[in-house]
Amino acid sequence: MANKDIYILGIESSCDETAAAVVKNGFYEMSSVIASQIDIHKEYGGVVPEIASRAHVDVITPVVHEALQNAGLTLQEIDGIAVTYGPGLVGALLVGLSYAKGLAWASGKPLLGVNHIKGHIAANYICHPEIKPPYLCLVVSGGHSHIIKITDYTSFEMLGRTRDDAAGEAFDKISRALGLGYPGGPMVQKAAESGNGNSIRFPRVKFQDNPFDFSFSGVKTAVLNYIHHCEQRGEEVMIGDIAASFQQAVVDVLTDHTIAAAKQCNIDHIAIAGGVAANQLLRTEMMNKGRKEGMDVFYPDLKLCTDNASMIASAGYFEFLQNNIAPWNLNAIPGLRINS
Ligand code: KG4
Ligand code: ZN
Repeated sequence: MANKDIYILGIESSCDETAAAVVKNGFYEMSSVIASQIDIHKEYGGVVPEIASRAHVDVITPVVHEALQNAGLTLQEIDGIAVTYGPGLVGALLVGLSYAKGLAWASGKPLLGVNHIKGHIAANYICHPEIKPPYLCLVVSGGHSHIIKITDYTSFEMLGRTRDDAAGEAFDKISRALGLGYPGGPMVQKAAESGNGNSIRFPRVKFQDNPFDFSFSGVKTAVLNYIHHCEQRGEEVMIGDIAASFQQAVVDVLTDHTIAAAKQCNIDHIAIAGGVAANQLLRTEMMNKGRKEGMDVFYPDLKLCTDNASMIASAGYFEFLQNNIAPWNLNAIPGLRINS
């Protein structure tokens, strides 16, 4: 048993991607299948929860089968089934969770409940198995913006969080206001390429009581006001400059707060994770600012930043090692916290 390889099947359905993957020993991705619902939700300008749940139901069986097939394994050869049980959309979560429970029950394999945020953090292990706790991770997605100290593979300490909008949510709202579409992050990044990030000074919020917390509703409102003023005065709305200046303001705050938190904790390893970690400016600026402070900075490959199931399988592996097997009555928890 000592050197037996551990194969975890991961299942993810918390928002608008149905995904399944097989990961060996926590770090090696054997297969990864992602069925994106972007085309379905695009016409509504954002994710419609009920439509998302139904779309997950339609594809979850072929997605899981394909992941097993691509890994060259049968369900019997899998050691554990890891599934996201929160945070996320309750109906969407329930599809993956119920499916995983059915598979686990029928095959006699252990069920492993995974927190989606811990999954995003674990995406880094697949690309950079050399990262070892303790380190700091900035997790920035459509629903979350957290600075988390990873003290061990399964223990986490929240150092800072957003008090209002998440960074990805702000990108999505600004994209809509600029008429760029959904999902907003990649659209704003693309528009920013033709603009100057220093042309408009949007606010960078810092709190006195916790300098590692974030707030993005102020920058969002400032951008919306700026657009309205341009329109009222009959001036051209410079989409490139607005997108670039907004992106710069968000990236400045994310990088400065993370580096400051790392310094305070005496930590010289930083990772970033979540959909917004796909942002090129964030990746470059975190790397440059981190290097100046003598810190190592890691980020996952682009396809591992946005939702996927390899990250869930990897996080599930560490739960498996802790023998943290989920009970059959595990429920979907839309507002699941990092320390529960
Ligand atoms: O992690 P994720 O796929 O789903 C959640 O767990 O929320 O993150 C999705 C978020 C969306 O808000 C999307 O606009 C943002 O990540 N995003 C980006 C980029 N790619 C995705 N934000 C900024 N720049 C990007 N290149
Ligand atoms: Zn996510």
